[in-house]
Amino acid sequence: MDQVEEVLSKVDIVELINERVPLKKAGRNFKANCPFHSEKTPSFIVSPERQIFKCFGCGAGGNAYKFLMEYEKMDFGEALNYLANQVGVRLKSYRPGPEETKKRRLYEINHLAAETYHFLLTKHQAGKTAREYLANRGISQKTIEEFMLGYAPGEYEFLAKFLIDKKDFLPEEVEASGLVFKNDRGNLIDRFRDRIMFPLYDPRGNIAGFSGRIIKPQENTGKYINTPETMIYHKSQLLFGFSQAKEALRKTKQAVVVEGEFDMISPFQIGVKNIVAIKGSALTEEQIRLLGRYVEELILALDADSAGDAAARRGIQLAVNEGLNVKVVSLGDKFKDPDEAARADPEFFKKQVKRAQSIFDFYIDSALKRFDVATAWGKKKIVDEVAPILAGINDEILQSHYVQELSGRLKVDQEAVWKKIHRAWPAADDAQDNYQDFRQEPRKNRHQMLLDYLFALCFQEEQQQELIKQDLKELISNPGLKRIADLLEEYLSTHDRFDSQEFVKKLPDELVVIFNNFFVYPLSEKVTDSQSQEKEINQIKQELKLIDLKERKSRLSTQISQAEKNGQEQEVEKLSRQIDNIDQKIKQLITLVIK
Ligand code: CTP
Ligand code: MN
Repeated sequence: MDQVEEVLSKVDIVELINERVPLKKAGRNFKANCPFHSEKTPSFIVSPERQIFKCFGCGAGGNAYKFLMEYEKMDFGEALNYLANQVGVRLKSYRPGPEETKKRRLYEINHLAAETYHFLLTKHQAGKTAREYLANRGISQKTIEEFMLGYAPGEYEFLAKFLIDKKDFLPEEVEASGLVFKNDRGNLIDRFRDRIMFPLYDPRGNIAGFSGRIIKPQENTGKYINTPETMIYHKSQLLFGFSQAKEALRKTKQAVVVEGEFDMISPFQIGVKNIVAIKGSALTEEQIRLLGRYVEELILALDADSAGDAAARRGIQLAVNEGLNVKVVSLGDKFKDPDEAARADPEFFKKQVKRAQSIFDFYIDSALKRFDVATAWGKKKIVDEVAPILAGINDEILQSHYVQELSGRLKVDQEAVWKKIHRAWPAADDAQDNYQDFRQEPRKNRHQMLLDYLFALCFQEEQQQELIKQDLKELISNPGLKRIADLLEEYLSTHDRFDSQEFVKKLPDELVVIFNNFFVYPLSEKVTDSQSQEKEINQIKQELKLIDLKERKSRLSTQISQAEKNGQEQEVEKLSRQIDNIDQKIKQLITLVIK
């Protein structure tokens, strides 16, 4: 056991958290209103048994170190020191590994560069034009400080010399930061020259990289350039302004999402603090996951009509299926972007944010504007465009609402729209598959939720035997859960009783997190005695079977329309019989579930 584990094994997480967030007993766990997002009913759970915390509202979770890092904003070393002190372990000096050391150096370089650029912008003669430029764009002194804006001078070796000659960084390190690069002649020269500098903070508030905007129009170079990917700068994970907007995101549970740096800063200055920028690219999975921990709603204020772009659509679909309510702001034709709107007419901008329209209404409206709804052909084009979008919606109620809406406005049969949606399914399935690859946790659809609940019931209420029964095992399609069930079977065949501490040692690391969650997953309060537990397990099993059958049915209908298209009549007939069969089974099950 290393010292990190030793300290952890001596800490009581319930005590640690209770000192900061008063906890109430709830079954074998403890709960409270989550300290990481605002809520009225507690979804923050602490498990004494697994020594972890988890919030089912915002997704925060982890062990005692993680709690201190998030709650007290300590870094890992600080949290380790603090806890070691508390439990009386004397640490042999904590040494970061070579990887961590390198990263620390890069953060140091970025930090120094930001301070230097900031100094030049605010205090130095060289920053005069840049100061005037920002003043012209209405950027206040306070904002310049809050975002640590800066100015990179026009010289080729300003920063390279400063870091290497004055600050004794190695040329390799400076090059690894991306702030400097080797030119054709092998000299290290500054990447950012004669530009307004925006430090790009990661979610923890460290400077991971920079973007720089030119001051006067130049040929042969982008208006903006960015730090290239480095050990610490990952474009797809970063949202400009996140670190400054974080508290407001948590409070309002909404994030206004804009395109560019100035589109973020100008509204921020007029009081729209819950705002982040995607810097001209489409929303990524990582960005959505990050935002999803803080907010329930994304309000897109993108440049004219780019919410309809294929790239934007993919991000939007992911966000919707992550459970986020996605809306779109309209700025009319008066303003080019949120920066202009917020500066010219702050009240208008705020009003439009409040009046943002649901993304699916926006898609429907936008298609209706572009095609002639009075003609049959126009209707077809509209449905062809919108059906694949609606097919990607995971939530049945949302999907059904918009199918009604669309068919109503086109005055066509709902059934016909549904057919187009089913035909669009294979594409939507693709998107789902990609989506699952990116997620550490599987998509939380009904099927997944039922399985989670079932596992939680079996571990919290000590009904583990149920999990290894054959008819249930067949319903577990998730490979992680399957593996846990297999390991459990093995374990139970060699042990008299279940000991979670011992069992967890048999799990591979990536399953420990999943396993831990079963211990904090809130159970229904009705399930108190073993009889009602068994009843609930049976009900869940039946619903899982039902979902499985329905999924098989929908796969078959896709196959049928494919076979119809290809004129394979025998195949069509065979598949239809299979569907009838499944329908029978579904009917039987439904009567059972209702009973
Ligand atoms: N962008 C970029 N590289 C470019 C152009 C744009 O990284 N060569 C990013 C920037 O983050 C920029 C955003 O995409 O803010 C949107 O670009 P654009 O709409 O062209 O610029 P604006 O945001 O309007 O920039 P400004 O107001 O400074 O002119
Ligand atoms: Mn602009």
